Amino acid sequence: MGEEFLNKWILSRRTFLMFSGLGSIGLLSGLPGRSFAQAKGDVKMAYTAKDYTRLLGMEGFSETLLKNHFALYQGYATNTNKLLDTLGQMLRDGKMNSTEYAELKRRLGWEFNGMRLHEFYFENLGGKGGLDRTGKLFKKLSEDFGSVEAWEKDFKATGMIRGIGWAVLYQDQLSGKLINFWVNEHDVGHPAGCAPILILDVFEHAFMIDYGLKRADYIEAFFKNIHWKTAEARLQ
Ligand SMILES: [Fe+2]
Repeated sequence: MGEEFLNKWILSRRTFLMFSGLGSIGLLSGLPGRSFAQAKGDVKMAYTAKDYTRLLGMEGFSETLLKNHFALYQGYATNTNKLLDTLGQMLRDGKMNSTEYAELKRRLGWEFNGMRLHEFYFENLGGKGGLDRTGKLFKKLSEDFGSVEAWEKDFKATGMIRGIGWAVLYQDQLSGKLINFWVNEHDVGHPAGCAPILILDVFEHAFMIDYGLKRADYIEAFFKNIHWKTAEARLQ
């Protein structure tokens, strides 16, 4: 049963990945405010993928790139729900000591964070205008980095680190300190007890359609579209 179960899971994952690319865009784009799984109408959902179509038309981000990105995000929400459902059923069936349970439990961090990190990312986009120089985020960045310009240099340099991952401005909730972190994978390396203030996706799917290997140009476009009020509202 174990091997069959894992094979089904892997096949299901591959099928999703295949259809979460360009082929699924037409299907997904006509469903504002509804998740992929809800549209299927046959899965009990815990999390609903949010609608970020308000970002379409954002300067420096093509519709193709954004719709691809939305599709990937929707997949994380769908898979988070599938994993929670499956793990819940395995718990009820007393299968917690199985290798399948362990592997699915490991997978949960990847899918859940893949969902949540994209929500933070999309939600800190779509803004117009710069950081409010009289606001608390400007003040805190100046205090912790010496200047907002110094913070920006560090954040951009973090985003330029070779490899796929995330550049994240985190606030340590114990000390209140702001720190830029590089995070390789959704589920590995996030600092404990820290809250994300600003998130930049530097997985290749986030920019290569529009920018090829010119990641610096993508990061400049990201900065032009930061929703600073959202980032500031995350600050404690
Ligand atoms: Fe992404």
